[in-house]
Amino acid sequence: MTTDCNELQERILELKKKRKALILAHNYQTIEIQEIADYVGDSLQLARKSTETTGFDMIIFAGVKFMAEMAAVLSPDVPVYIPDQKALCPLAGYLDAEKIRQKKKEYPGVPVVVYVNTTAEAKSEADMICTSGSAVEVVESLGVNRVIFGPDANLAEYVRSHTNVEIINIDNRGHCYVHNMFDLSMLIELKEKYPDAVSIAHPECPIEVQEAADMVGSTGMMVRTVAESDAKVFIIATEMGLLQQLQKRHPDKTIIPMYEGAVCRQMKKHTLEKILDVLENLPSENIVTVPEPFVPHIREILEKMNKVQGKGPAVPIEVDA
Ligand code: 13P
Ligand code: SF4
Repeated sequence: MTTDCNELQERILELKKKRKALILAHNYQTIEIQEIADYVGDSLQLARKSTETTGFDMIIFAGVKFMAEMAAVLSPDVPVYIPDQKALCPLAGYLDAEKIRQKKKEYPGVPVVVYVNTTAEAKSEADMICTSGSAVEVVESLGVNRVIFGPDANLAEYVRSHTNVEIINIDNRGHCYVHNMFDLSMLIELKEKYPDAVSIAHPECPIEVQEAADMVGSTGMMVRTVAESDAKVFIIATEMGLLQQLQKRHPDKTIIPMYEGAVCRQMKKHTLEKILDVLENLPSENIVTVPEPFVPHIREILEKMNKVQGKGPAVPIEVDA
């Protein structure tokens, strides 16, 4: 870590205390940002943490915009700042409210479950929200035979393979460009090279990668698995920020990226400088808002999502920074 970086971190930590700021960072943030965060976690863990604001006057959310919106809806009493307003998840762009309305007309009465990686407008049309760490359990919690699901077609495949509920895709093209970089040949090659390694893929990966991996789960599940497993070598298929975190936490284990080019450009828009700017200047344009008419319904379904207990390998755990 450079002196500049250390100085920035120290200044942030000082101001964070003064401003009573809660800093939440997604697992894909850079190590420097993870180090100054109060909590680092997956989408579900951060949604839950964003409701624990007693003693804080503001939240700084280092993640993509839909995550910060989630915090803004769940913690209406404190402003939520995003360090870079252009941190938008492209996967969310696959699903607009009109597409959902069309699908609802095609399948009247069938409930809609949307992945949390969606816009507020799309969420306002949904009956339920899920994260990668809770998708199967959320779908099953509805007690129905079929659900309309979107936008991620790979996550839909994952859910399909873990439940008897019929999953109707809203858009078969929905995907994450980062997780679509992984392909089966990469995994086969690495498995040959490291025969004792445990391989773990994110459910946004193509289904053939999921099927060939030893385990599939959210980024929170990956953190827990590496911490708890006796295995020494892990092949991981997700964004590089998480791999750097895992290697730093477990110097005695070997963390092998399935593909080093798997970097989410949107998550990486946040920097220490931008976080410091928020703390110093409290720029109102960085406060995340959700259109008022959508808020009560989104809050209701996010709170419902937070209550659904995950089970099996996808259960997320609390991860303190
Ligand atoms: P997690 O909830 O597993 O952290 O996933 C969020 C995400 O954006 C994956 O690309
Ligand atoms: Fe969106 Fe993919 Fe980036 Fe996750 S990794 S925030 S799904 S683009």
